[in-house]
Amino acid sequence: MNIVFVSVEVAPYSKAGGLADVAGSLPQALAPYVNAVQVLTPLYSQIDRIKYDIQTTAIKGKISLGKKIIPYALHQTMDIDGKTKIGFIECDQFFGRDGIYTESDGEGFADNNLRYFFFQMVVLDLISSGSIPVDILHCNDHHTGLLPLMMKTLQLKVRTIFTIHNFLYHGHFSAEELNLLPGSTKTLLTKTQWDNYSALLEGIDHSDIVTTVSPGYALELLAGLNVDVHSLKRIQAVKANFSGIVNGIDTEYWSPERDQYIPFHFSKDDLDGKRKNKAALLAKVGLAPDMDAPLLGSISRLVENKGFPLINKLLDEFVELGAKFIFLGSGSPEITDQLRKASKRHPQHIAFDDGFNEPLAHLIEAGSDMFLMPSRLEPCGLNQLYSLRYGTIPIVHRTGGLGDTVDPWTADSGTGFVFEPYDINELRKTMGLALKVYHSGSDWVKLMQRAMSMDFSWDQSAKQYFRLYNL
Ligand code: GLC
Repeated sequence: MNIVFVSVEVAPYSKAGGLADVAGSLPQALAPYVNAVQVLTPLYSQIDRIKYDIQTTAIKGKISLGKKIIPYALHQTMDIDGKTKIGFIECDQFFGRDGIYTESDGEGFADNNLRYFFFQMVVLDLISSGSIPVDILHCNDHHTGLLPLMMKTLQLKVRTIFTIHNFLYHGHFSAEELNLLPGSTKTLLTKTQWDNYSALLEGIDHSDIVTTVSPGYALELLAGLNVDVHSLKRIQAVKANFSGIVNGIDTEYWSPERDQYIPFHFSKDDLDGKRKNKAALLAKVGLAPDMDAPLLGSISRLVENKGFPLINKLLDEFVELGAKFIFLGSGSPEITDQLRKASKRHPQHIAFDDGFNEPLAHLIEAGSDMFLMPSRLEPCGLNQLYSLRYGTIPIVHRTGGLGDTVDPWTADSGTGFVFEPYDINELRKTMGLALKVYHSGSDWVKLMQRAMSMDFSWDQSAKQYFRLYNL
């Protein structure tokens, strides 16, 4: 069985969010079960060609996009695990830029639809020409949502699977843009109620199998939670082939015992290093070295959906109660400004690093006591899984994958603090409870040890994907 896994971001080469982590680790976890796995992704300028040995050009080709003929090159190499192949698609006109999705000011590229059309047409070209053998084509999110439908027009014996990592992003395009797609695909498309098209919904309509990244989120989508009526009809039409598989994590890269970025290693039986990492983290971000104060970490895109409107309103009162906060992330100018102001108001208690910083992300996971992740919606979420592994107790809203992976604390069970509904008073109560348990001492150590005993390695989930491939 040959699997081709298509994603517009793949860690460690290119990363904007969780999709990259999944695309960088699920294919490797599938490798033992299948004949061959190949990942296909664009070659962005930020990808270091020398470091990753992206030199040889295996295949060159051309794509007609509207009236233009645009050349591409495919560079294939072994992925860093040495077991899976990765193919980088080069086309400077579309991918020779620093950003993956956006300009440096956060504004999406004006030609994103065109870029994704082109990328998918290259994948189709590579498959139809026989250059890339494929039995299962695994597509991810709206950027690859048209591929299952394009595959139908080829009438090859290929099964398609479409994984939704986030239903908030549809990749809408207009009837005018539609004219750029190959003629045979056009007739298969369905208009939305806004008189445009949704690449995400096309992926749902035309794939043999549709999945999302947790069972909880699958149920929410099927129940129409935060889904418009039109989309819901299209989801429900494929109900029989729709399921949720929770993401795994790379347990080598995110390991408190082996993490390359943290100064002190630790395990659930020897938590000494965790305290030392806390001291290192406080020093690194310039917070007062008060070791008994609870330290809450956050690593997130700064968007409203991640719960920042609630967090922002609670910062001052929790600083009053003695808590400290460290925020890492970039995104909306408004949230950036709020966090910057909060850290100026409380320089000893709140630190904010605006940007993307992998070493600091690992140190936050290792050195914080709690991880704040009150997302309004969260298809799966990965940071709460990293947090559990590092004994950093997650505080989450019961939604999607957060509800599936964090068990609410009770006196002798549970792995984190869970609130619902999504409301400031509920979050306030739950953070208050977390602080109380933290100060209780021994209960907290037991809680950390339970969290650290959870297993979110990929193997279970890879097996579930493999079962679906075989249906
Ligand atoms: C998206 C989702 C997140 C999920 C990730 C990987 O970023 O928002 O919840 O964990 O994809 O599937």
